[in-house]
Amino acid sequence: MRYKPLDKEVFINNRSRLRKLLPKNAVAVLNANDIMPTNADGNMRFRTNNDQYYLSGVDQEESILVIAPDFPNESLREILFLKETNDEIAIWEGAKLTREQATKRSGVQTVKWLSEFEKVFRTIMMEADTVFLNTNEHIRAVPDVETRDSRFIKECRQQYPLHNYRRIAPLMHDLRAVKSPGELDMMQTACDITEKGFRRVLNFTKPGVKEYEVEAEYLHEFVRRGSRGFAYDPIIAGGFNACVLHYTDNSMELQDGDLMLMDVGAEYGNYNADMSRTIPVNGRFTERQRKVYDAVLRVMKEAMQLLTPGNTIPEYHREVGKLMERELLGLKLLDTTDIRTQNPEWPAYKKFFMHGTSHHIGLDVHDVGNIYKEIKPGMVFTVEPGIYIREENIGIRLENDIVIRENGFTDLMENIPLEAEEIEEIMNSRS
Ligand code: GLY
Ligand code: MN
Ligand code: MN
Repeated sequence: MRYKPLDKEVFINNRSRLRKLLPKNAVAVLNANDIMPTNADGNMRFRTNNDQYYLSGVDQEESILVIAPDFPNESLREILFLKETNDEIAIWEGAKLTREQATKRSGVQTVKWLSEFEKVFRTIMMEADTVFLNTNEHIRAVPDVETRDSRFIKECRQQYPLHNYRRIAPLMHDLRAVKSPGELDMMQTACDITEKGFRRVLNFTKPGVKEYEVEAEYLHEFVRRGSRGFAYDPIIAGGFNACVLHYTDNSMELQDGDLMLMDVGAEYGNYNADMSRTIPVNGRFTERQRKVYDAVLRVMKEAMQLLTPGNTIPEYHREVGKLMERELLGLKLLDTTDIRTQNPEWPAYKKFFMHGTSHHIGLDVHDVGNIYKEIKPGMVFTVEPGIYIREENIGIRLENDIVIRENGFTDLMENIPLEAEEIEEIMNSRS
């Protein structure tokens, strides 16, 4: 493992928080993710199930976590089932977790091999009334591919048709939305690694460089610092490409006089950073670029002040819309008639700022968490306003990740250059 694992107390505490949400005689089952195939015998890099990881710290394929807080035999109240390791597997893939290692990682005292699962699970189900199973519930999820959890749901319901079945997802969303100090340390590391990448790119960028060369600079910096790489497909977008919101081709040459928008974050130990920066390719903003840049920056700074405990994300987004409206009027991209005649369902500012400003971030980049519930201390959100003017080849987005506190917030990216002067200064003082 290339990252420093979280202390097992984090996972013990996470399970304890879940137990408090379960009714009497409940059992919860969470499966690892599949190793996803590509073609022939190729695989994608393994990424485990974030809910199972959150409750166990185990980052290994095929694992099953069972939590049955009221089971009479105390040793079966928490069980991890693991793929059995053996000499053959050790030769080809490297050793899998031993039972002792799994206990050390997770704090779960009872670790068994998968071959024992059916028998032990039957024993537990005989005492259980309610079964909490896991589904990938996210407003933007595309659930076309069946997960291990979804296969398990089918099998379980077939074997045990008369139990009560419940969704564990809403419980996991509430738990995972509020980060513990250990998790915040992991996210800070992901942001610090991202910073190293950005500083390297400030030194590297000039007209004639290809977008994918910039991508490579980030990757080099990330991987050498213990990250497995990008938290998501990076956007490295020169000139007009910045106005294509999900541009990830990163294939063009950077031009003198253009801006480059980069939406890039490092992964670290399954946690993510999500940063956007926009810099002038030649090291100096034009007057117009600078005006738009400062407008986005003002919205970003003011938006951070609005992400406070008790507010909700939809209400916050309405307030940020007002800030953006003010800036677009200032830039003369909108006039008062545009505002007076706007469709309240799609306000005028959306022509230049068509995406949301903030999302939860954590084990997922667009992390789970109910946006209709009140914002609480310990939640982590991105703040990412942008202005996209297609006619002028200008696309500017700025994005930091902040932790909500009782009073105010902590900016996990406060060390990453953001002010236009600072960016110009670094780009013009490079060796
Ligand atoms: N990088 C994805 C996002 O900003 O939401
Ligand atoms: Mn982003
Ligand atoms: Mn984001």
